[in-house]
Amino acid sequence: RIVYVNGDYLPEEDAKISVFDRGFLFADGVYEVTSVLGGKLIDFEGHAKRLERSLSELDMPAPVTMDALLEIHRELVARNEVHEGLVYLQVTRGAADRDFAYPAEPKPSLVLFTQTKTLADAPVAKTGIKVISIEDQRWGRRDIKTVQLLYPSMGKMMAKAAGVDDAWMVEDGAVTEGTSNNAYIVTKAGTIVTRHLGNEILHGITRAAVLRFAREAQMAVEERSFTIEEAKDAAEAFITSASTFVMPVVELDGAQIGDGTPGPVATRLREIYLEESL
Ligand code: PDD
Repeated sequence: RIVYVNGDYLPEEDAKISVFDRGFLFADGVYEVTSVLGGKLIDFEGHAKRLERSLSELDMPAPVTMDALLEIHRELVARNEVHEGLVYLQVTRGAADRDFAYPAEPKPSLVLFTQTKTLADAPVAKTGIKVISIEDQRWGRRDIKTVQLLYPSMGKMMAKAAGVDDAWMVEDGAVTEGTSNNAYIVTKAGTIVTRHLGNEILHGITRAAVLRFAREAQMAVEERSFTIEEAKDAAEAFITSASTFVMPVVELDGAQIGDGTPGPVATRLREIYLEESL
């Protein structure tokens, strides 16, 4: 596999980052994951805009222009012959002598790699996933897509230990989001409910697209908090992210949601998302 590191396309075993890189020492970095379907990048512009926002919230310089970033994405997809999968991009504040304060003249690091993966026909989309709820113990700026992913990793392990696929995080009695995805329910009246935007969740690029498609299809949408109790009693539940698109959730904390199979709204939204993206 060919990866991109600070201007070079290299075999992965030759790619190197300094041990003093602040991404490594302080998790002082941000990232994006963009999906590839039929060799085409999905929603690159949305990801580039969110990256710019993450960088600006952290006073981190952009290593290259967003146009150059698009070229690097395309080049890497071509070189690795990715028909379907993901492009991972990470920007850190770069190498500097270890100091909590930011370096005066940061030299940001830019790393990209690809992962070939079956996304559109992922078998799990037919059966749906099971989740548990856990406390949300992340920091308060989840709208910035930083590489501090230890708590989401721990959440994923808690899910595995419970024999399920993922965890929904709860704060002050309300669901924030999944470990690496946005969370939704569909009420018995057919309204799609997902948490409103704020510092408490990542502003998903897939979320924005799916809500747009839902509204275009005359589906009712409410952006507000919901509880685990409301979710257990919902007609349907699902998650969205660049790596799962729209993925039905069929069980929460051991309780079946709806009839325990992917619901019609989630199924329809997944179809629409794939039609619009391909
Ligand atoms: N995760 N919420 C969190 C906490 C996330 O990490 C992600 C994405 C999302 C969905 O955002 P988007 O629709 O822009 O992918 C929501 C990526 C896929 C990851 O970490 O691999």
